[in-house]
Amino acid sequence: MFNFDFYNPTRILFGKDRLSSIDQLVPADANVLITYGGESAKKYGTIDKVRSALGNRKIHEFGGIEPNPHYETLIKAAEMVRREHIDFLLAIGGGSVIDGTKFISLAASYDGDALDLLQYGFSPIGLDIIGHAVPFGTVLTLPATGSEMNSGGVISYGQGKYPVFSELAFPTFSILDPTLTYTLPKNQVANGVIDAFVHTTEQYLTYPVEGRIQDRISEGILQTLIEIGETTIAEPENYDARANLVWSATLALNGLICAGVPQDWAAHMIGHELTALYGIDHGRTLAVILPPLLEVRREKKRAKLLQYAERVWHITEGSEDDRINSAIQKTREFFESLGAKTRLSDYNIGADKIPVIIEQLKTHGMTALSETHDLTLDISQEILERAL
Ligand code: NZQ
Ligand code: ZN
Repeated sequence: MFNFDFYNPTRILFGKDRLSSIDQLVPADANVLITYGGESAKKYGTIDKVRSALGNRKIHEFGGIEPNPHYETLIKAAEMVRREHIDFLLAIGGGSVIDGTKFISLAASYDGDALDLLQYGFSPIGLDIIGHAVPFGTVLTLPATGSEMNSGGVISYGQGKYPVFSELAFPTFSILDPTLTYTLPKNQVANGVIDAFVHTTEQYLTYPVEGRIQDRISEGILQTLIEIGETTIAEPENYDARANLVWSATLALNGLICAGVPQDWAAHMIGHELTALYGIDHGRTLAVILPPLLEVRREKKRAKLLQYAERVWHITEGSEDDRINSAIQKTREFFESLGAKTRLSDYNIGADKIPVIIEQLKTHGMTALSETHDLTLDISQEILERAL
């Protein structure tokens, strides 16, 4: 196992009827900005409940944070934070609103050009660059990204999606009430199951380093998602199924399963280009890219693919290659059982678009991806060709 630091200061309040706790978690004299997306937070009454929990505190609202949140939108909110002397942010939404709120929190505290903050990539933006950030809490309404308990976000700018990380960007608290997710459309629930699944494989399907705890937690998350995936889509108000999705998604990307082990993230980086170019939902891009990525990288990942086949899919018969093939096939079938298409052609993307996607990867410096930093543009091309 590799050396690691593990730090996660986010308080989680899990379960039904937790919104009233906001009163104890937000400073009594706070000047609060509630951030939200299009219409769901208003339409389903979550904002009203949050306002009522905030009592007499001064409250402002900033809505309209779009899926794959745009820099231009978030900058307006950061200006509002400065203008109105806001000292606490409260995000109500899924990954886009929470990521956007992280960026607002950092940008409002940064004296330079906020575009600088998009340039750090996977290097965390440290205290030396931003002295402090505006503290924020979250009310999660879409289980998928893990943003509610991590310090990263993904911001859209121009034709790119830029990761932003900072230790200052952990939420101080997150309310995870599975009942707030009952109103999600089925396709968004499927996106959430797939995103949590692929977050786990990005940290698990690499090469063995004797990270036994990390492996077994990852296998537990994957098996849970396989068990509850179809049920939580078919039965949105099945509390136990949905609660297991919510907690799986949080644990899949809160720093626990990546501590001390290699990490891949190539499916995410290629997938981000598909979202930026063609507007495909984040979770759907992963369902398209993961199966061919595993096929192309089967030698690098052989030992973990065999472990995955045996422990997650209970495949024990046949040659090593047969077992790996079956595990990849079962992964694809699982995504399809959730209603997700797994081919680029399902999104009307043909071979003629592959050079465009490769050019984007090159522009964004995605030329040495994966846990071994040797997934070149040629290999990305092979993955995309197999994804057609
Ligand atoms: O805008 P509203 O009206 O709120 O509708 C949203 C949105 O259209 C809707 N929704 C959310 N909660 C709902 C609801 N509809 C009904 N009932 C509810 N309870 O769902 C739609 C999608 O929301 P979005 O936040 O975009 O989805 P998701 O949570 O999947 O987030 C995706 C974003 O997160 C980034 C992605 O790149 C993408 O930008 N990621 C963030 C990560 C992180 N911070 O660690 C890691 C991920 O890998 C990912 O890259
Ligand atoms: Zn993701």
